[in-house]
Amino acid sequence: MSPPEHFVVEYAINPWMDTTTPVDTELAVKQWEGLRETLVRLGHEVHVLAPEIGLPDMVYAANGAFSVDGVVYGAKFKYPQRTAEAAAHRRFYDSLGWRFVQPSQTNEGEGDFTYLPDAFGGLVLAGYGFRTEVPAHAEAQEVLGRPVVSLRLVDPRIYHLDVALAPLDDSNIVYYPGAFSESAQRVLAQLFPSAIVASEQDALAFGLNLVSDGRNVVLSSEATGLAARLRAAGYTPVPVELSELKKGGGSVKCCVAELRV
Ligand code: ARG
Repeated sequence: MSPPEHFVVEYAINPWMDTTTPVDTELAVKQWEGLRETLVRLGHEVHVLAPEIGLPDMVYAANGAFSVDGVVYGAKFKYPQRTAEAAAHRRFYDSLGWRFVQPSQTNEGEGDFTYLPDAFGGLVLAGYGFRTEVPAHAEAQEVLGRPVVSLRLVDPRIYHLDVALAPLDDSNIVYYPGAFSESAQRVLAQLFPSAIVASEQDALAFGLNLVSDGRNVVLSSEATGLAARLRAAGYTPVPVELSELKKGGGSVKCCVAELRV
């Protein structure tokens, strides 16, 4: 995670960003700290990546890379405003001694890639349509040696996979079908017949931009409908308030890069 000490909305690269809306950076840091403390309280170890001046979106750490089994597939950002973030993430993984593979294809890390270790023996789901380019899916498969299923995103408000779909445990997911092409919806229904299906309202409240440990599901406090559905399915929703970071087009999951050893 990387604290939003330099967070502002001074460019707009997704429909949520409005450069005329004031941002309370101090409040953003406070809310981010609440998320960090929640994760620590749930037993996670959180590494903090130092934020850099001039990289306001660095708080969305999920976009910096994608790791599986200690192998890191680096990010290559679509927009020049975020390009320099990739190197900061690379330095972090290098310092931990992880195997880091520099990408040649445009991809935004965990924003568009997710991993389910127990689904079909280890499955990567990958989004495209707005940020990550399709050839990056093949590159990730080659780097990680896991099957990668390409899913087309079709709603500009839901421009990353991690705003449309989330793993709830090692083999099941929750997703909003309307974010995907009809064919991608068929693929998801075929692969995950017991998935939890979320509503458009859940998705637009950034409810799917969640972090789950298989039981506790940390999600935006605005996603009350999804929280109720998750509770009914036996999970424990853990709501956190991240209203300032929504102004940049992100929530819980965007702030967290999972380190899969
Ligand atoms: N402002 C950032 C962008 O448009 C938000 C990134 C959100 N991150 C995510 N993992 N969905 O790139």
